[in-house]
Amino acid sequence: MNLDFIYKNPTTIYFGRDALNNLRTELGNYGDTVMLAYGKGSIKNMGLYDQVVSILKECGKNIVELTGIMPNPTYEKVTEGAKLVRENDVDLILAVGGGSVIDCAKGISVSAYCEGDPWTKYWLQFQPVDNKIVPVASILTLAGTGSEMNGGSVITNDDMKLKMGRVFPAEMNPKFSILNPEYTFSLPTYQLVSGIFDMMSHLMESYFSGEDDVTTDYLIEGLLRSIIHSAKIAVKDPKDYEARSNLMWSSTLAMNPIMGLSKPQDWQVHMIEHQLGAYTDCAHGMGLAAVSLPYYRAIYKNGLDKFVRFATQVWGIEERDKPKEEIALAGIDALEAFVKECGIVINLKELGATEEMLPLVANSTVILGGYKKLTHEEILDILKSAYAAE
Ligand code: NZQ
Ligand code: ZN
Repeated sequence: MNLDFIYKNPTTIYFGRDALNNLRTELGNYGDTVMLAYGKGSIKNMGLYDQVVSILKECGKNIVELTGIMPNPTYEKVTEGAKLVRENDVDLILAVGGGSVIDCAKGISVSAYCEGDPWTKYWLQFQPVDNKIVPVASILTLAGTGSEMNGGSVITNDDMKLKMGRVFPAEMNPKFSILNPEYTFSLPTYQLVSGIFDMMSHLMESYFSGEDDVTTDYLIEGLLRSIIHSAKIAVKDPKDYEARSNLMWSSTLAMNPIMGLSKPQDWQVHMIEHQLGAYTDCAHGMGLAAVSLPYYRAIYKNGLDKFVRFATQVWGIEERDKPKEEIALAGIDALEAFVKECGIVINLKELGATEEMLPLVANSTVILGGYKKLTHEEILDILKSAYAAE
């Protein structure tokens, strides 16, 4: 039976080539002090930093900078940002970058005025947010995580070797997000394709669970087809605006609660990748791809009809009179062929894993699962397959 749901999304999206023009108007809704949060320099290389600073100055804002937010942002960085927020009485955190910068900004927002230890309260115990939060807004430069229109904040605690994801309620979403597909033109192919697999994985995590006839599954199939189509174009021609635009909007939709409504979901691949990331610091989408292929081959018999549907509706594989197992496996093979065509890395050694790490990753992975709940031993087998992948 389809599940009940409440859906709320308060993020205003400004999408397109001139989207940045809306920043001036939006800034009028917030106080004088803006924290400009960004990564390690890509926004300066593409000229976006200068444009944003000039608008902030034009609007008379005091700028507090938080620089050097790293991929797989650390709790240490969240703490540094939270201190800056308190010291400067920041009114708005403007995150300019990819998912890591936006996730870190949300982490800072809930941590700055938290009494007690925010890590334990928010990322270990998933407690509700009951302290003052600082509004967050974003200017997106990498399509993949969907952080620009959701409450997700994935933070790595280096000391504990834990990468923990948390989806905060919609009040913690960015208030507004500026999405100009041209900002993604400068992405290295490695990051482009990592983001592409990430958005696909968000959809598959929702898709591979449940038996009911749910609108969401049809939406997911359509989005996956659009992503696969645009990905092939963007990989060949990085400056194709249409493909970049489709990928950017697909990714925003893909990791939005709307794509999980009314159905059970899986999320085991993400749980394994998070621990892989905690140990290797690999690019999120690459880790997901490496884990997904052996994971789906391990569980497909438990969700056979959905895997057959995946093969036929997403990859266009004809059913004819073949056995269901054969069709289902052909769908997973098609996913693997696509991954390889895009140049996505699926070998764990290439992603920085060592053999000694595999049991540590397996044993620290949170067990979720859709069609099948794995044991830690089965997760280790999946990691071993990914370690030997070619
Ligand atoms: O540090 P900078 O200079 O910004 O460089 C970044 C970084 O090195 C670079 N980059 C970003 N935009 C660029 C660019 N380089 C050139 N041109 C551009 N336009 O790309 C590198 C990776 O950036 P990052 O923000 O780490 O990538 P992504 O957007 O994939 O974010 C990954 C993080 O988000 C989490 C992941 O676990 C990971 O920590 N996730 C967040 C989710 C959410 N909020 O809902 C859900 C996801 O499943 C995911 O877990
Ligand atoms: Zn993801």
